[in-house]
Amino acid sequence: MNMKQLAAEAAVDYVKDGMKVGLGTGSTAYFAINKLGERVKEGLQITAVATSVASEEQARELGIPLVPFAQVDRLDLTIDGADELDGSLRLIKGGGGALLREKIVAMGSDRMIVVADESKAVRTLGKFPLPVEIVPFAWEWTLKDILKLGCEAELRREGSELYKTDNGNYIADCRFGAIEDPAAVAAALQALPGVVEHGLFIGIANMAIVGKSDGTIDII
Ligand code: 5RP
Repeated sequence: MNMKQLAAEAAVDYVKDGMKVGLGTGSTAYFAINKLGERVKEGLQITAVATSVASEEQARELGIPLVPFAQVDRLDLTIDGADELDGSLRLIKGGGGALLREKIVAMGSDRMIVVADESKAVRTLGKFPLPVEIVPFAWEWTLKDILKLGCEAELRREGSELYKTDNGNYIADCRFGAIEDPAAVAAALQALPGVVEHGLFIGIANMAIVGKSDGTIDII
């Protein structure tokens, strides 16, 4: 079985009847949503919220009951992927552009399980460019402010257009190199007015399930 699928399906074992579940975004979360759909057809009773339009559509097609945010205070569990994770469960997310919704949903959950293949597990974050969601207004100034933090950064593109998130914002992909102090980088980015959110998830994930090429999983 594909390493992403292995991790994702193992995480779905933690979903129990009556839970309110956050659905992540990306190719690994896709497998988790598919498995949840199977389990719902078998009688699992859950309600869910999604972290992207794509995941919401997938869940709807599979018959997973989706609820408006107004009808739920907190979630029991969110299952989501990551672009990188370290041994302290610090993450880089946002490769799929959904980091803002993913962070809102993860922080509104009692538990977040990260699902990933083994290539995502790193000693030090930063090889993957850090996605930062910024508002379109005066984005040129925000990008300059970000560059002053000591990274190389460029706005994500989709063909000839600037990529827009589900929230109508831009993504700056920032190459900091090895991020030795993720909390300091997170604080510096958060202090910039044009930054909506960044893809560093620190102190949010409770567990990671990593699918390995030998067909086993690691739990972090
Ligand atoms: C989307 C994300 C994804 O979880 C992350 O990019 C991992 O994606 P994949 O599972 O496709 O490798 O943060 O914003």
